[in-house]
Amino acid sequence: MHEKSERVGDMFNRIAARYDLLNHVLSAGTDFYWRKSALDAMNLRSGARILDICVGTADLALGALRRDQYPNRVVGVDLSMNMMRIGQEKTRRASRPDVRFVCGNAEELPFGACEFDGAMVAFGVRNLADIPAGLASVNRVLKPGGQLVVLELSRPTLQGFRQLFQLYFRHLLPRIGGVISGDGAAYRYLHSSVMAFPERERFLHLMEDAGFVSARYRDLSLGIATLYTGIKTSTAAASHTSDLT
Ligand SMILES: C[S@@+](CC[C@H](N)C(=O)[O-])C[C@H]1O[C@@H](n2cnc3c(N)ncnc32)[C@H](O)[C@@H]1O
Repeated sequence: MHEKSERVGDMFNRIAARYDLLNHVLSAGTDFYWRKSALDAMNLRSGARILDICVGTADLALGALRRDQYPNRVVGVDLSMNMMRIGQEKTRRASRPDVRFVCGNAEELPFGACEFDGAMVAFGVRNLADIPAGLASVNRVLKPGGQLVVLELSRPTLQGFRQLFQLYFRHLLPRIGGVISGDGAAYRYLHSSVMAFPERERFLHLMEDAGFVSARYRDLSLGIATLYTGIKTSTAAASHTSDLT
């Protein structure tokens, strides 16, 4: 496994117990809205088989199953056993045994070709050591016509807000994260991984290169987070548009 993946897996194993709490505190609860927006963008239909990549503590997977027309089964894959153990406990408490957790690397998904109707990733893609390999791997396991929805943190573009957010994200957030989780490095990594992520148009190009068409993005919360969608096609002719409504 790539050295970055090992480091990231270890880091999430260390912070797993405090991960959910910190998510809600550091985003002031906005993470609920972001995941809801991702699920709204998914074409969920009864009987669909959905893959939640970087499933973590399973908030997105549980959200998908709580929808009226929920898919029969969600498979969640992650490198961190501790994150998935918490996810497993949450699905058990919610009486949703229809999530299957699989330990694996998003860059080499341990599934056969064309197994899933849809795939989703929340706050996971920027952690991958090789993003193109991850996108190619998702494309392989999706059925033709299958949808990929990616939710990821971004750098806001609006002048003034961008600088304010940077101050919070770079200086305050790692301190709060460090105090609550006992692992300041993990929350400094959060900042640097968002800074390094090929966001918006650049990510659309990576999606297209991996074989997704109709690739689009939409900023959420003044660009703190961005939602990307694309469709796997067996035919070529990719196109992309940006949508900042
Ligand atoms: C920020 S958490 C997101 C968890 C969850 N999706 C959510 O919405 O809260 C990122 C997750 O990605 C996992 N991860 C990072 N790199 C991975 C990889 N290469 N393959 C599989 N999982 C990975 C981490 O272990 C962690 O659980």
